[in-house]
Amino acid sequence: MQNKIELKRISHHFDTSEERIELFHELSHTICSGETLAIVGPSGAGKSSLLSIAAGLEAPSEGTVSFTIDGNQVDTLYMRASSGFIFQQFHLMPELDAIDNLALPLRLKGNKAAYDIAASWLDNIGLKDRARHRPHQLSGGEQQRIAVARAFVSKPQFIFADEPTGNLDARTSASVTSLMFDCALETGCGLVIVTHSKELAACAQKSLRLEAGRLEVAA
Ligand SMILES: Nc1ncnc2c1ncn2[C@@H]1O[C@H](COP(=O)(O)OP(=O)(O)OP(=O)(O)O)[C@@H](O)[C@H]1O
Ligand SMILES: [Mg+2]
Repeated sequence: MQNKIELKRISHHFDTSEERIELFHELSHTICSGETLAIVGPSGAGKSSLLSIAAGLEAPSEGTVSFTIDGNQVDTLYMRASSGFIFQQFHLMPELDAIDNLALPLRLKGNKAAYDIAASWLDNIGLKDRARHRPHQLSGGEQQRIAVARAFVSKPQFIFADEPTGNLDARTSASVTSLMFDCALETGCGLVIVTHSKELAACAQKSLRLEAGRLEVAA
């Protein structure tokens, strides 16, 4: 059954002591599972804010966001539990080693096979021999491969990635990019990526450009 995120006439702003920062006005868009979407646009346009809203992490100032999972309309808590997140700075738990980082989301859900599943993911991403290494003992690319695996390990319906290759060189970016797209294709989950990278955006089925408060299909 199709899963979807419907953004309906959403507007967003931030108020500071001096001014109101208007990010966008009455945007509407539907994101479906099984689709890969890139959101591009200049720095400060509001891409990360839009991603947070689409993931149910933040509410828009105006408008509505509805989430449908397995045919049922669900709330933001359910949506978050059905989502995986990938960030520019990897955000692995520094005190946990690679396998513990991967097992954590599964253990939090009470999955008794957490370590077996984590071990098989480590094998999939070619880091089996680094299971007992902590993030500071791994390269940026290795950390991001683990972060990608961690996002997928709980079989989410949607993955949200904010600049997932922003801290990586071209070759490592390409390997993290293929890992993300291969996993999305294999699991059929929706993949929404915010990026400044033309190479990464070109891998998505659809690209939207957020600029000057408008969201348009990118050329
Ligand atoms: N919590 C906040 N309070 C006030 N202003 C904010 C807040 N979060 C973001 N902003 C402002 O909103 C605007 C959009 O921020 P956002 O992070 O969404 O942009 P972005 O398109 O992701 O930029 P970049 O490409 O640099 O990551 C910026 O001007 C930012 O300073
Ligand atoms: Mg951003």
